[in-house]
Amino acid sequence: MSGLPMVVPAPGLPEKVTIYEVGARDGLQNEKALIPTEVKAEFVRRLVAAGLPVVEATSFVHPKWVPQLADAADLMELLGDSGKDLPVLVPNQRGLDRALELGLRHIAVFGSATETFAAKNLNSTLDDQFAMFAPTVERALAAGVDVRAYVSMCFGDPWEGAVPIEQVVTVGQRLLDLGATQLSLGDTIGVGTAGHVTALVEAFGAAGVGVDRLALHFHDTYGQALSNVQAGLRAGITTYDASAGGLGGCPYAVSATGNLATEDLVWLLDGLGIEHGVDLPSLVATSTWMAEHLGRPSPSAVVRALG
Ligand code: HMG
Ligand code: MG
Repeated sequence: MSGLPMVVPAPGLPEKVTIYEVGARDGLQNEKALIPTEVKAEFVRRLVAAGLPVVEATSFVHPKWVPQLADAADLMELLGDSGKDLPVLVPNQRGLDRALELGLRHIAVFGSATETFAAKNLNSTLDDQFAMFAPTVERALAAGVDVRAYVSMCFGDPWEGAVPIEQVVTVGQRLLDLGATQLSLGDTIGVGTAGHVTALVEAFGAAGVGVDRLALHFHDTYGQALSNVQAGLRAGITTYDASAGGLGGCPYAVSATGNLATEDLVWLLDGLGIEHGVDLPSLVATSTWMAEHLGRPSPSAVVRALG
């Protein structure tokens, strides 16, 4: 058994990508049993030590909506100065206040491409979500805080079914117009396929949003995540969200399961000779350690093969 794939580059792909690690936030937010804050801090430290360039740490959402992340402030305090450059999710001004009090420098707002998910996830309408984000983003930028924006349900919605590409582009553009520097396109329930990824990225391009401003965020519910990453690579996208060990799922999205596992993404990138800076054995050891804490094996094929 080999610990690394043979490197065989494919033409026309980016030389380097940024992995945006969401395991400590998207990965853990759906866990029912409360995980001790110290374990979360250790998870974040280990992810950073494994070479992940961006590690989203937690969410400053309403604690009743996501009880698992109610300890967000305690976690960031435990992480101290080293945590100040880690992004956190913030839905509104109350969340921003909490992040600013701790001196955090990167936030992410998260919008919905559909009416139903805006109601379920944000207690808002599609239009009103922008009224919630606008002052949040404006104040964040004025405070020197960088803002990423997510769009959920870009490839399908469990209540509404198909989501028109133009609707996703309109929501994404409105978020970028608020001042977000990067837009992460979320396949919240993992239904997207490769041609759809290509078409969505092209539609953003036609609307004037280049690949340098886009990231892709895949859940692996239907086993399409890596195939979708390849479509993204061919389209020139250089930022991919992934979750260590394939943890994850959104508590407010029916049938959302684990995110694309970071290890599986790393294996693909290694095979293609695409630079990412992550140490695979350290990451596998981290996911194996976390799986022990959670009491179940990691769903990542690469963690199972190497762990
Ligand atoms: P709401 O109940 O409508 O809030 O929730 P509200 O503005 O009416 O306020 C009600 C009370 O909550 C007030 O307190 C507020 O202060 C308090 P009271 O005056 O009654 O004492 N409150 C807060 N407290 C702490 N932190 C806050 C906060 N906001 C209000 N930030 C809200 C609206 C947006 C807050 C709620 O719907 C919420 O927290 N939603 C978050 C849901 C969530 O976290 N979902 C998972 C993340 S999204 C995701 O996973 C998808 C993604 O991965 C991409 C993909 O896969 O597609 C990103
Ligand atoms: Mg997600």
